[in-house]
Order: sequence, then structure tokens, then C-alpha cells
Amino acid sequence: MLGEPKLQVLLELIKHSTHDELVWMNGYLTGLLARDQKVEDPLPSKPLVNKITIAYGTETGNSKRLATEFAAKAKKNGINAKLVSLDQYRLNDLSKEEYFFAVISTQGDGEPPAAAKKFYDHIHQNAATLGKLKYGVLALGDTAYPQFCKVGEDVDAQLNKLGGERLISLQKCDTDYATEADTWFAEVLKQLSHGGVAGPAITPARVENKKPSGKKIYKGRILANINLNDRGSDKQTHHLEIAVDDIEYQPGDSIGIVPQNSEKTVRKILANCCCDKEKKYAYRDEHYTVAELFTKKVNISFLPDRVVKKYAAIVQQDIPETKIGFADLLKIYPVRDAAQFDEVVKILEPIAPRLYSIASSPEAHTGEVHITVARDKFLVNDEIKFGLCSDCLSQWPVNSEIEFYVHHNDQFRLPADDKDVIMIGPGTGIAPFRAFLAHRDATGANGRNWLFFGDQHFVTDFLYQSEIQAWHDTGLLSKVNVAFSRDQEQKVYVQHKIKKHSKDFYNWLESGAHLYICGAKDPMSVDVENTLLEIIQAEGNKSTEQAEEYLNSLKEEGRYLRDVY
Ligand SMILES: Cc1cc2nc3c(=O)[nH]c(=O)nc-3n(C[C@H](O)[C@H](O)[C@H](O)COP(=O)(O)O)c2cc1C
Repeated sequence: MLGEPKLQVLLELIKHSTHDELVWMNGYLTGLLARDQKVEDPLPSKPLVNKITIAYGTETGNSKRLATEFAAKAKKNGINAKLVSLDQYRLNDLSKEEYFFAVISTQGDGEPPAAAKKFYDHIHQNAATLGKLKYGVLALGDTAYPQFCKVGEDVDAQLNKLGGERLISLQKCDTDYATEADTWFAEVLKQLSHGGVAGPAITPARVENKKPSGKKIYKGRILANINLNDRGSDKQTHHLEIAVDDIEYQPGDSIGIVPQNSEKTVRKILANCCCDKEKKYAYRDEHYTVAELFTKKVNISFLPDRVVKKYAAIVQQDIPETKIGFADLLKIYPVRDAAQFDEVVKILEPIAPRLYSIASSPEAHTGEVHITVARDKFLVNDEIKFGLCSDCLSQWPVNSEIEFYVHHNDQFRLPADDKDVIMIGPGTGIAPFRAFLAHRDATGANGRNWLFFGDQHFVTDFLYQSEIQAWHDTGLLSKVNVAFSRDQEQKVYVQHKIKKHSKDFYNWLESGAHLYICGAKDPMSVDVENTLLEIIQAEGNKSTEQAEEYLNSLKEEGRYLRDVY
């Protein structure tokens, strides 16, 4: 009820309002009340469960951000939530857990984030009994990838197989995960408030009026496309500058590009597909002609074994495991008729986006974004082939249009301006460090910078040589060490240069430097990490275990960051 003075104000307002204004007020109040009922604080009373674990497996920070928010919400609701990254999680604790919630993303082609690999392997390879466990899994992913939320699915299924009981069903989230994730955790809190008794697993409420899925697509124009390798090099590494309005990114981010298939290959497919060329095919909620589908939507380059196996089952033929494109598959093992072709379309997977580290800084290169693209070259049955996207990009002419999105990576950021940074980035691993250095140069950051770069030959493969030398001359780069592996008989790599400067390297770490590695995961990042451990052991006078602990604590402090692929 309203008191007399408020009632008078309301009646006065009603009296002087038109019909339309009254309708608007009605809607406004309804919306206001609905907002207040949102899932912010769903627990009116003290929960019956008061201890849970929230573990996250992340590559670019999204799962960590959500898990941290969940832990804060749980605490606000009187639940003691232990928040832990899966790479810090003690695997033996799993069998002691009662309430365990995992927030985990999928990376690569359906693989766990590097930090969650040990946990993922542990639950798949050990026959632990999780009799006490009640759990829930929130899976982050991206429907643009063929193996959508695969890791979350696997973890959810495996915990169940080991005896755990689902307190809540698996929730799979696309890139616009915020609302679904909040709704899922609100449901978790509700369950816990009722004592967290696992019955039939609760399915989180469907989120209505969800924002349309998808990322912000930017349209850019190529300003420059330069091969950074000189004549005589075995490699081709292109520096692309793209003009684009109102782009938002930070050094450390990447851009994602979905390549198109070549016209020539699509023509080969159309010649053998025995289907109606005008027919519209439904694919992931949209309709396309067969030409559109094979040009822009489905992967036809090299099919994963799982797709070849499904194809073999449809055409009922024995097909050996081999690297094969769809055009050849269709030619060698043809479909019988249009109906069989329809079945085949359903098993094809979307073209996965390709990510390229951004090599520019918004502070230094206003209205532009730069990338460094190695033209991927490999042999298939003794024939030279090129990677679909890197091949297109390396040939894209100046002034052509390019569409892309920004892939944010909060796990690979510059520290505060006064902190020192050590950057290890051979080959295209140099890209984010060009962004870091350009940024620190433009903003006048006063921390020291030390760069390790490597490639095959000094004369032909020193990417961004003149910029690196200029940054050294002006003092932005306090130290630069380069390793050209094939300029002498014995191969020399970045890790050899790091070792040569081990005393200084360790002193930088001891005085608080942040350490970054970007480039090939294997063998580069593995060899570099082994060298780091040796240096810490030797210079810090530590045992193997102490050196590992030292590196782990750098990770925990956010001072050892990797972007490896
Ligand atoms: C290189 C790369 C590969 C990815 N592969 C997949 C995939 O196979 N399946 C999927 O659902 N999502 C995939 N994603 C999308 C991520 O799971 C998604 O961006 C997620 O929000 C990342 O969460 P995180 O920051 O916690 O790692 C991939 C992302 C990247 C950068």
C-alpha cells in the first residue's frame, strides 16, 4: 500500500497522463519489477551446503573471469567457495570433493586448455571412484568450431562415469555466454540452498531473449601486404596492415578470420555432387545453395578422420585413413545419388576460424590493425600444399576488403608501465611483441624491455629488423638477443641465447620482470621452459622441485604468460 502523500502524487500523475503515457508507465514498472527479480541474489536464507570448489580451465581468461564471479556470488550467499585453476588443482583431492563445479573451455580442435590438460588426462586415465561427488560443468566454446564445447561434454560425461552425480545438467555456452552462465550458476546456488541433494540433474532454465549469437564482425581494407622474408629464404612471412574504423583491441589480442574455399575446388565438387544446384541446403539454421555452402561454410580442405569415417559409412565403402580433401573423396568414392549427397552434407563441419596475433597497438597505429602471417607450406603425398587461410592472406591484394573479428585474450597482457618485460618470440611469435613494444613506445612506459628473437637466417629471415634495431637505438629495447639457427653448422635457438645470458635473465626475474613466450608450442615452448628451469636451478641455487615451484609461483602471480600454438 502507498501512504497518503505518495498516493496523492500518483493520482495526480495519472490524472494528467494520456492513455499512451499510462501504457508506457505500466510497461516501465513491469520491467523494473522483473529486473529486481533477476538472479543476482537468489538465496533468501542461509544455504544448507556451505563448502564448494569452483575450478576453471582457461586459455584466454573467460572461464577464469566467470569462475571468479561465481565464487564471489557463492561467498555473498554464505557458501565457502574454493576457487582454483585446474593446473593448480591437486588431482588426489577430487575423490574427497563433495561439491565440485568446473568452468572449462575447449581449444584447438576439441582439446582442453593447456592449463587443464593434466586434469583432463587424469580423469580419463585413472579409475578413481567419485562416490561422494556432486558436480556441475559449465562448458565455454564457440559454435564456429566443429567440436563445439567438446571438452566440457567430455568432463561432464567422465565425472559421471567415475561415479559422480550431476547436481545440474551440463550447460554449453557460445561466445555470448554471460546470461546463460549467470542463469546456470543461479540454479546451482538454488540447489545448494536446498541442501544440494542430487536427484535428477536440474536443467538450467532456458534463456529467452538471448542476445543474437556471434561476434562483432569488422570490415577492413588491406593497406599493405609485404613479404618480410628476403629473396632466397625458405619461408614466406607476410606483414599485413588493415585499415578499419572504430576497432577495439589491446596488444595481446588476436584477430579471427574465416577463410573461403577456392573457386577451383568448389567447381570440382559441383561437377561430382549429382545434386540440384538451385536447391537450398539447411546448414546450422541458415539456407544456402550448394555453391554458397561449399565456398563459405563447410570445410573441404583436409577432412578430419572422424568425417572421413562417417562418409565411408554413408557411401558404404572402405576408405583408408589418409589426409584427403572433400573434392577428391567425392571423386574417388562417389555418392550414389542426390539423396545420399544430402546425407553427406549433414556430416560436413564448418570452416574453423584462423587466429592471428595482432602485431600493432591502437596507441601507435590508430585506425589500423596489423598481423604477421606465415604462409603455411607442407607436403601431402610428395606434393607441395599450402594452408587455406595463410595462402589466401599472403596473396590478398592491397585495397581488397577483409572481414574479421577480434579475439580478446586477457591472459596475455602487458603489465603496469614501470614493470620490466622479457619477451621470447621466434618466427611469427614476434607479432604480439611488436604490438607490446609499439605500445610501450607510444605510451612512454618506463619499464625495461628485453627481446629474444630467432629464425633460420640473419640475412633473409630477421622479421621487423629495422624496427627492432631502431627500438634498440632509442633505448626502448634495453636488450635484444637473436638466434639464427641455420647460419652455422650447429643449430642455435632462442633457448641457447637465454642460457648464455642466464645470470642477467635470473636477475631480471628476481627484480620482478614479467616473462612472455609466443610461437610454436612444440618444440620451442617446451625447450624454452626446460631452459628456464635449468637457469632458475643454477642461478638461484635451487633443487629441481624448488625451480618448478618458482616457475609455478611466477604463473600464479601472472608473471609467466604464454601464447603458444
Ligand atoms: C585456437 C582456438 C581454438 C578453439 N577451438 C574450439 C573448439 O574446438 N570448440 C569450441 O567449442 N570452442 C573453441 N574455441 C573457442 C573457445 O572455447 C572460446 O573462445 C572460449 O570462450 C574461451 O574460453 P577461455 O578464455 O576460458 O579459454 C577455440 C578458441 C581458440 C582461440
